Amino acid sequence: MFSLAGKTAIVTGAASGIGAATAKRFAAAGAKVVLADLREAKELAQEIDGRAVVCDVADEAAVEAMIHDAAEGDGLDILVNNAGIGVVGQEIAETAASSLDANLRVNTYGAFYGVKNAARYMRNGGAIINVASLAALVGFPAYIGYSVSKAGIVALTRTAAIELGARGIRVNCICPSTVDTPMNDTPDVAAELAFVRIATPLGRICDADECAALIHFLAADDCRFITGQALVIDGGVHAGFCETLVGAVISAAMAGNDT
Ligand SMILES: NC(=O)c1ccc[n+]([C@@H]2O[C@H](COP(=O)([O-])OP(=O)(O)OC[C@H]3O[C@@H](n4cnc5c(N)ncnc54)[C@H](O)[C@@H]3O)[C@@H](O)[C@H]2O)c1
Repeated sequence: MFSLAGKTAIVTGAASGIGAATAKRFAAAGAKVVLADLREAKELAQEIDGRAVVCDVADEAAVEAMIHDAAEGDGLDILVNNAGIGVVGQEIAETAASSLDANLRVNTYGAFYGVKNAARYMRNGGAIINVASLAALVGFPAYIGYSVSKAGIVALTRTAAIELGARGIRVNCICPSTVDTPMNDTPDVAAELAFVRIATPLGRICDADECAALIHFLAADDCRFITGQALVIDGGVHAGFCETLVGAVISAAMAGNDT
């Protein structure tokens, strides 16, 4: 069950966070993994008997070469378009177009180049998993460039699922809320992390291994009738207003009334 034995998989952004956790999990399930990242993930590649490749996903020619090489020989079965950045922090009125461009170049174009070239080089019956974000589906102040770039990934996922369905290639994306990875290792996000914990019914932020498990689920042949989906992994945030959030808001409102 959920074996990836005999499969070749590419994971972009595999040097860190969700990508590294996915590469490890895929290898443990039997896949041969190509770890593509701006930084060479040499040690991890050695640890899991995979292959580290330096690749900028915002560079179409580099992505094509990387996918072509990975597919040569045994063919390509799985592509995880995970590499991403978050240029955030300003409300729309203050946001320069260059900030949107930066997010789009890596997040949306990067996934687009991946899907485009996987369509050329992937074996029929393969699986593509794109890493979007809850920010694609839910607005968050000062996240405009990132949100737009991730919403583009949801649209890309649905269109690709329709176009590649005839070849049995499934395309899905995952939409995580905040995940405990180096992407959030900055002092600026401390307040956001505190808010997400309070707003999450499960009371904590997501773990990279939990995202890797969902990606593994979607990559496996066991899930061969699931395609075109944007699967939310958020500890229940999207379901509604949890007690801790309502309690915090009411306490703040009551404190405001007292003064
Ligand atoms: N951490 C979160 O809270 C969170 C939430 C939702 C979605 N995501 C998404 O998950 C994905 C993985 O992020 P993470 O949290 O593991 O972050 P991370 O910073 O730990 O890892 C991102 C990896 O992508 C690589 N990368 C960045 N730009 C690249 C490029 N142009 N080409 C190739 N590689 C590149 C980095 O070198 C890094 O190894 C991203 O797409 C991110 O947007 C993250």
